[in-house]
Amino acid sequence: MTKEEAQIKHHELCELVRGHDYAYYVQARPAVSDQEYDRLYRSLKDIESEFPELVTPDSPTQKVGGKPLEGFETVSHAVPMMSLDNTYSQEELVAFLNRVKKLVPEQDLDWTVEPKVDGVAVTLRYENGKLLLGATRGDGATGDDVTANLRTVRSIPYQLCEGQAAIPPVLEVRGEVFMTRSGFNRLNQRRVEEGDEPFANPRNATAGSLKMLDSTVVAKRPLDIVIYGLGEVAGQDGNFPKNQSELLDYLKALGLPTPPKTWVCRDSASLSVVLQELDNLRHSLDFETDGAVIKVNDIAMRERLGATAKAPRWAIAYKFAAEQAETKLKRIFIQVGRTGALTPVADLEPVLVSGSTVSRATLHNADEIVRKDIREGDTVIIEKAGEIIPAVVRVLTDKRPKHSTAYVFPTTCPECGSKAVKMESSGVIGAVWRCPNMDCPAQVRGRIEHWCSRKAMDIEGGGAVLVKQLVEQLAARGLVLDVAELYRLSKSEVASLERMGDKSAQNFIDGLEASKSRDLWRVLFGLGILHVGAGVAKTLSRHFANMNDLIHCGVEQLVALDDVGEVIARSLVDWFSDARNQDLLRRLEKAGVNMESSLYRASENGEDSHSLVGTTWVLTGTLPSLTRQEASEKIESLGGKVTSSVSKKTDYVLAGESAGSKLEKAQKLGINILDEAGFLKLMGADGAGKESKMPRDELDLFNGEG
Ligand code: IVH
Repeated sequence: MTKEEAQIKHHELCELVRGHDYAYYVQARPAVSDQEYDRLYRSLKDIESEFPELVTPDSPTQKVGGKPLEGFETVSHAVPMMSLDNTYSQEELVAFLNRVKKLVPEQDLDWTVEPKVDGVAVTLRYENGKLLLGATRGDGATGDDVTANLRTVRSIPYQLCEGQAAIPPVLEVRGEVFMTRSGFNRLNQRRVEEGDEPFANPRNATAGSLKMLDSTVVAKRPLDIVIYGLGEVAGQDGNFPKNQSELLDYLKALGLPTPPKTWVCRDSASLSVVLQELDNLRHSLDFETDGAVIKVNDIAMRERLGATAKAPRWAIAYKFAAEQAETKLKRIFIQVGRTGALTPVADLEPVLVSGSTVSRATLHNADEIVRKDIREGDTVIIEKAGEIIPAVVRVLTDKRPKHSTAYVFPTTCPECGSKAVKMESSGVIGAVWRCPNMDCPAQVRGRIEHWCSRKAMDIEGGGAVLVKQLVEQLAARGLVLDVAELYRLSKSEVASLERMGDKSAQNFIDGLEASKSRDLWRVLFGLGILHVGAGVAKTLSRHFANMNDLIHCGVEQLVALDDVGEVIARSLVDWFSDARNQDLLRRLEKAGVNMESSLYRASENGEDSHSLVGTTWVLTGTLPSLTRQEASEKIESLGGKVTSSVSKKTDYVLAGESAGSKLEKAQKLGINILDEAGFLKLMGADGAGKESKMPRDELDLFNGEG
């Protein structure tokens, strides 16, 4: 490469990396996979090492990246929050070990290995054991004060445990906030149900959650944390940990969550074994791990080794290759959702990735297709980590067919031909095209399937196949099916559909009949009002006796309710003021669908608005003061149900001493877990639960994932 070529390439790479840094740190909306980012970053570094004169102070290699967000106070970090150098190769890892050994030749070094948690780095400042500040990394020197949001993370203690270990007056700890895989899956499922865009992966969801300005919403996100290091520490005594392994034990004794498994190695051979072990283990962890962090164990030694501008010399991240596969993208088609969102989907030649066959991948939106220049007929690299939606990482342009042309995103809805309009989404992915035609068959189908779904009106037999046929048949007669029209269908009409036996038709008709007596919250949820999920529907049903009372309610009255913010309130008011929707409600009522709330009756009977009606509990282990019988009675007196085994339907697990497999299962499923103290607090100090004494944010926390 000539110097001129290098200069051009360097400029290009700087722009690209800067753009990705901005997307990642500022917008919390990464535009490329980690591997792609690392590839670009490395090319940039390579050019700079070949042509050192190109290194300018504003090169992305000279800073951690990121600018603080607007809307939060900024805080400067007493000890900078650095990044880590990383590598994908074991040879480079050995070179790193040798480099460090050379710097301190007289010492015998040992190394700790920890999972590299794929989340968002934060610092927590405890003064005299109390959590005073929580902040993001930002540019490494200053970050955002996100204390209110971090306080909603259940595993972050407000107060460190005294007793076993002395707590220095100032103790700043550092770690990674992440979203559990199970929680992520549930969150995405709920977002889809509520008509919001799903998050692309748990890290995006975490970053998106932490930058939200309303912490009551953050409280509902299944966030967790792992603490692995220190920031500023002052006033510690002589017993303060001297190495990383002791440090993690110490932090754990203070009540801070530390990595679930760590190792200590003395040489590269044992390191290699450990890395293999971690690579095998990582898929069973409930968080995403994209590698290992290898650190010099001895803390004093780290001081001697120091740091470069960006990263410490005493640690390195070893990244596992993400599971990727090469395949052909046969076609791009557009899926039209219940709310009209047009989502491009790649139809792929089936290929095996991370243990499952993938034949579809989401392309997110029109901008993403342009950014990656994805075309029909391209050979692409796809990636699938854990249970996450497969995505197209990049195109192998050298394998592109000769006469290929750029993909043109349709300007009309592929289902009904309406002109598409741009929709601002509340999700992190951004602008989305939407079909504005409420009568679009795809939207009609989506709304009816949602109404029939198990979580809404739970109508047997109302699956996608039947709904599609019904919608088509009625459309052929010039009619539009809506959820009220379902109740006018006769058995013979249903039985006349293709492949529909007499018995299935009867089942469906019976299912419709049974659905008429469902509670108000299911009706509300089933209507598919934007942003109104099952949790919000339950809240509304606790506060309003019937649909009629709710219809006449204004934004101000709605936002006064727990769980209901401005966006939800507006969405409800808009929906109810639409004449078509009013007509739909009238027809549903006429068909005999229940519009009364039994949750409201429960609160009228003297139980407070935080009653446990509709919640399912499992008790496990021995509680310090209550017997199980007493705890069960308390739950049941507030309208909750106690069952014996943990399943997806369990809302809360009350866990005591020596809790075993039930607790484990609850953790795996991401279910809310309470100890006795938390439980009693929720019930009110006297346990009667008539008047909750919990501050609102804690209740929101508890009510978390509805
Ligand atoms: S130690 C001086 N340990 O990975 C920096 N970092 O790519 C010390 N990370 O910035 C960081 N798991 O946000 C450390 N067990 C772990 C980690 C970890 C995840 C993150 C952290 C760091 C980034 C570097």
